[in-house]
Amino acid sequence: MQLLMKVVAFEEFGAAGNLQLADRPMPTCGPDDVLIKTAAVSVNPVDVKTRQGEALASQLEHALPLVLGWDIAGKVVAVGRNVQNLSEGDDVFGMILFPKPPNGYAQYVAAPADELALIPAGVSYDAAAASTLAALTAWQAFTHFGELKAGDRVLIHAASGGVGHFAVQMAKHLGAHVIATSSSKNKAFVESLGADEHIDYKAVKFDDETGDIDFCLETQGGPQFQRSVSVMRNGGTIINLPWD
Ligand SMILES: NC(=O)c1ccc[n+]([C@@H]2O[C@H](COP(=O)([O-])OP(=O)(O)OC[C@H]3O[C@@H](n4cnc5c(N)ncnc54)[C@H](OP(=O)(O)O)[C@@H]3O)[C@@H](O)[C@H]2O)c1
Repeated sequence: MQLLMKVVAFEEFGAAGNLQLADRPMPTCGPDDVLIKTAAVSVNPVDVKTRQGEALASQLEHALPLVLGWDIAGKVVAVGRNVQNLSEGDDVFGMILFPKPPNGYAQYVAAPADELALIPAGVSYDAAAASTLAALTAWQAFTHFGELKAGDRVLIHAASGGVGHFAVQMAKHLGAHVIATSSSKNKAFVESLGADEHIDYKAVKFDDETGDIDFCLETQGGPQFQRSVSVMRNGGTIINLPWD
């Protein structure tokens, strides 16, 4: 008898209303995989844009009906024979199988063990699932695609957002002077993360308020990207995040 589980799938790209509860066979655990009982899934912009027919949609069309959900957290319930680093009962999180179909919007998901990490003590499943792609994006921007150095003046746009709130904390950890933009309603939150200066992008033009920036994490694209260029010092680095 085949065991079934519940998933959230869609047969056509489009609005959120296309997401439907469906039955799928329970995944099997390959030799390098673990089987996870899913506890939390993070829905970030790449999920939304792909579901709408953008981002990775053209690469994944062949796999319709699709089950998205790259950012997951849960408990390991079975371990493949080659897996050394994880055991049954471990609480794990990770960004799995990107950019292949992840099948994370599901009661159970199989994923390569080397794409998962143990959830630190005291961190919830929800927080762990939300700390994968968003945190990785900020970290890669500062340490892989760019090189943020101690003492740099860094401008972080959308500092209250998914990527931005990690970026503020990471930039402080790396010793930078952080200038952060958000709405006034999020000023206290952004400052609590360590921002040295705050700019309310709705009340003032950030390019009138700051300059001599060594590193900018740009989140909006278009005209804001051009305005961000105008506040850079010569030789500075801008990382542009929008997926257009
Ligand atoms: N999340 C990810 O994992 C991820 C990965 C790769 C790339 N990206 C890209 O990174 C960008 C940000 O994504 P996100 O997930 O961090 O977004 P998000 O969580 O949706 O953040 C949106 C925040 O942006 C702020 N905002 C809106 N317009 C702004 C402006 N003109 N200036 C400054 N802040 C503004 C708003 O802050 P207030 O509420 O304070 O006004 C809003 O809360 C997007 O282009 C996304 O495609 C995201």
